[in-house]
Amino acid sequence: MGKLAWGQLGPTPFLLGGKAFRWLNRHMPSEVFTPETLPPTHPSKIRYGVIGCPIAHSLSPAMQLAGFEALGLPAEYFRIEVPAGTLHRAIPLLLQAGLQGWNCTLPHKKEMFNLVSKKDSSALEAQSVNTIRVEQGQLHGFSTDAAGWKTALQETWQLATDKLRVLILGCGGVGQTLARHLTQSGCAALTLTNREPKRATELLRELQSLSIERFPIQTIPWDISAIQSALPETDLLVQATSLGMKDEDSLPLPFESLHPPLRVYDTIYRKDLTPLVRAARHRDCPAIDGLGMLLHQGTLSFEIWTGKKAPRAAMQAALEQSAGRKI
Ligand SMILES: NC(=O)c1ccc[n+]([C@@H]2O[C@H](COP(=O)([O-])OP(=O)(O)OC[C@H]3O[C@@H](n4cnc5c(N)ncnc54)[C@H](OP(=O)(O)O)[C@@H]3O)[C@@H](O)[C@H]2O)c1
Repeated sequence: MGKLAWGQLGPTPFLLGGKAFRWLNRHMPSEVFTPETLPPTHPSKIRYGVIGCPIAHSLSPAMQLAGFEALGLPAEYFRIEVPAGTLHRAIPLLLQAGLQGWNCTLPHKKEMFNLVSKKDSSALEAQSVNTIRVEQGQLHGFSTDAAGWKTALQETWQLATDKLRVLILGCGGVGQTLARHLTQSGCAALTLTNREPKRATELLRELQSLSIERFPIQTIPWDISAIQSALPETDLLVQATSLGMKDEDSLPLPFESLHPPLRVYDTIYRKDLTPLVRAARHRDCPAIDGLGMLLHQGTLSFEIWTGKKAPRAAMQAALEQSAGRKI
């Protein structure tokens, strides 16, 4: 079954009843489309998807389809590969293919922000878009990443960020989004570091221009001794680089520098947990990975599209089943 492609099935899925269709849809979790190869629309189905590159690994289809199914909504959700540099060409095709909204992931969040006609306050804060709702042919952009992250922190550790000294490793897309969010919502101190130092200093400049100096914001160099020296002054370490996605990736900091009560939040998720989360737990530091953030940003996207409360339990169960582990 896993080897079947939509093209091979032709219109069959649409001729099947709701349950059979949903079963097929769920049991083809690794199917990847392009904007050109999406199947014909069905008049009674609302259509969503996730765009990005690479996209084959995305767990969003299983989670979102479980949400639609739990509420009895006749909706489809496709994994759609859109390579870097092709977003402006992909958007008219996605609209023609009948998508009512989509999630947007690496590498398109920033460019999508620049292309939407309307920006929600969450997108303005993040300067990034991960959720699109199509409204009369126009794109309305939202960002649910920071709110998803915050809910994950609260649920796991009952932790609000306002009293925390936070160190963010990585000032790429997700690092910037979380830093902008913390600057607006408040924390006790914020430290930024990035391999390419210019990215961190530019972000610092931007945040300082926004901030009313309620708390200190600084950058430190991307080197082991600077990061180690910052750790005793840190309550929450946020790993926001892509280090840890690959097995051969090194830890972003030495194992021995991790000491409780430091908490570690790795934005990456992997089936077998990330090397940093495993190392931190080994050192008795509370540590979680980005699977909870993925769940919560996804339930928020679901609510933006449907206007209904997301069936969280069903979405979480499907996500955990696809990830092969609990959050
Ligand atoms: N859990 C979730 O829901 C969720 C949501 C969003 C993102 N994420 C995760 O967050 C990660 C980053 O995403 P992004 O959108 O921020 O990507 P991005 O914009 O491409 O940024 C990548 C970041 O990783 C750094 N980096 C890459 N390779 C490195 C290396 N070898 N050594 C040190 N730093 C390195 C980059 O530093 P330079 O600037 O020096 O290149 C940059 O800071 C992704 O892996 C993704 O899985 C998770």
